[in-house]
Amino acid sequence: MYDGFGAELWSGMQHEKARDTAPDGFPRLPKVPVGRYTDPAFLALEQQHLWRKSWLYALHVDELPEVGSYRLWRKTGSPIVIARGKDRKIRAFYNACRHRGAPLVENERGRTQGFFCRYHGWSYDLSGRLLAVREKRDFPELDLACHGLNEIRCEQLGNWVFINEDPSAAPLLESLGPIPGHLRNMQLDRIRFVASKSFDIACNVKVLLDAFLETYHLKSIHPQTVDRFLDSRGTYNILWRNGHSVMATPHRRPEWKDPGAIGMPEIDTADEIYVEQNVSYNVYPNLVTPIASTGIPFCLFWPKGPREMTVEVHWFGPEGSQDHELWPTRMANFERILEEDTQFAPRIQESVECGGFDGLVLSYQERRIYHWHEELDRRIGIETVPEHLRVPQILSPWISEQ
Ligand code: FES
Ligand SMILES: [Fe+2]
Repeated sequence: MYDGFGAELWSGMQHEKARDTAPDGFPRLPKVPVGRYTDPAFLALEQQHLWRKSWLYALHVDELPEVGSYRLWRKTGSPIVIARGKDRKIRAFYNACRHRGAPLVENERGRTQGFFCRYHGWSYDLSGRLLAVREKRDFPELDLACHGLNEIRCEQLGNWVFINEDPSAAPLLESLGPIPGHLRNMQLDRIRFVASKSFDIACNVKVLLDAFLETYHLKSIHPQTVDRFLDSRGTYNILWRNGHSVMATPHRRPEWKDPGAIGMPEIDTADEIYVEQNVSYNVYPNLVTPIASTGIPFCLFWPKGPREMTVEVHWFGPEGSQDHELWPTRMANFERILEEDTQFAPRIQESVECGGFDGLVLSYQERRIYHWHEELDRRIGIETVPEHLRVPQILSPWISEQ
């Protein structure tokens, strides 16, 4: 029925539906200590080792349409400017003049010929080269070539631009493991940006992200929406290296189509599994994306503080579909589901802070959450995580090499 990875996902879903117990040998998952959601020392480690050292989705190429288009991007706390150069290449820099650190761009977005520091007038081109220093005579032996803007790793998966503040990180495509291979028929270099929206929620970023890594909650909080068309008992998960994972959930009826997307243009080369079932990836750490042939939403989860976060939804569609009349309805439907998902988040935050709750008890079906936490400890460095906040590393036998 399906080819390649689609066949594996499909047979996995059939197996899940039929089983009465967790697989032989699957361990009882230790509690995830609640301090991982609240302890300032832990959150500081997370900031330093996760958010500042991971490949993070930044923007779509359509958001920087012209030479000189730029965006100011501060999702990790660092001020970063992402700009399109004369050679049309997209680059990212710290928004910090090499003289004394003043900002180079001040607006959230715009278009410029180059970067000009308003503090003492140093100027740079769009590729970050330092072009001129005012009163150069007073800087003996200053080598302009060594004082270009500090560049940040910036790489693409199709038309999607990711950045990483870690200069020694493995290349994006390598670090994504099997995910680019799964998406190879999705024409990612032709996919277009449609719209994006963001919502602030009063909880730690992980409180909400957790809800997007499992389908155990479907029957309770989505009875009128997602649960009507997805059979959560058939959810099949694959855990991959680097914290990534996928969750495939069968439609209750094979012929079911999203009513909000019927008649929308499709990516005609999309694997059938994306047309007929629900396949949602977690690109570690904070991107969750259910892939469909009629369009792809990116849900992005960003920390704003210990107990504040932002969830962003970005929509992408096939070439020529950007102005389709159904987008507003489709996005509104998705927002309704998102509201169902966010409804408990601020109360969960209260619980995790109150001292009357000691940790998360996770099931086999919720193991992607545990996998996420294990990877976080590996990134921080297991010995660096305070012992009482560590999660034991036990899932490696359950990580797929494919
Ligand atoms: S800080 Fe930019 S020129 Fe001085
Ligand atoms: Fe949900």
